[in-house]
Amino acid sequence: GRGLSVDGFSGLIRDVADFPKPGILFKDVMPMLADGPAFAAAVAAMAAPWRDARLGAVAGVEARGFIFGAAMARELGVGFVPVRKPGKLPGEVHEIAYALEYGSDRLQVQRGALAPGDRVLLVDDVLATGGTLAAAASLLAGLEVELAGGAVLIELAALGGRARWTSASPLLATLRY
Ligand code: PRP
Repeated sequence: GRGLSVDGFSGLIRDVADFPKPGILFKDVMPMLADGPAFAAAVAAMAAPWRDARLGAVAGVEARGFIFGAAMARELGVGFVPVRKPGKLPGEVHEIAYALEYGSDRLQVQRGALAPGDRVLLVDDVLATGGTLAAAASLLAGLEVELAGGAVLIELAALGGRARWTSASPLLATLRY
């Protein structure tokens, strides 16, 4: 691989059972973020496959996708655009509603934040059921941009969220559990 392994991060990504709700196994990346060399290695590994991808921007999904997305944007020398939960972004926004296990949620991006024709990389920390990243990809698909791909630090492979990534562009995960 690219020099990163699940074992190499043991102790830095903590399993928290039944958080934030019963039945959910939460991957807590905060210890890894607090460790300078580990955070740098994680971001470098996430960014490496995209160096020659001619990206115009990185879009990150609230909230932990901001951390990795902004760091990757700096690493790749492009700008960062936040994909946010409702009511956070001023001005006109594009919006998508998506179904959750119970109820629904929405994601928004500011109008004009992405230039027409931009090749955009979508970033989040974790791919679980895949609903969030699929919704963000659909939101971008409705704009005049090209989805270059998706990048997550962690894929919870057993949950099968990758199946919901219907874009022809690649979805890359650095660590698979
Ligand atoms: C988590 C995670 C992803 C999403 C993955 O975000 O950061 O965005 O869930 O789950 P999925 O693949 O099943 O959609 P969370 O809802 O905890 O939001 P937060 O980052 O704002 O805390």
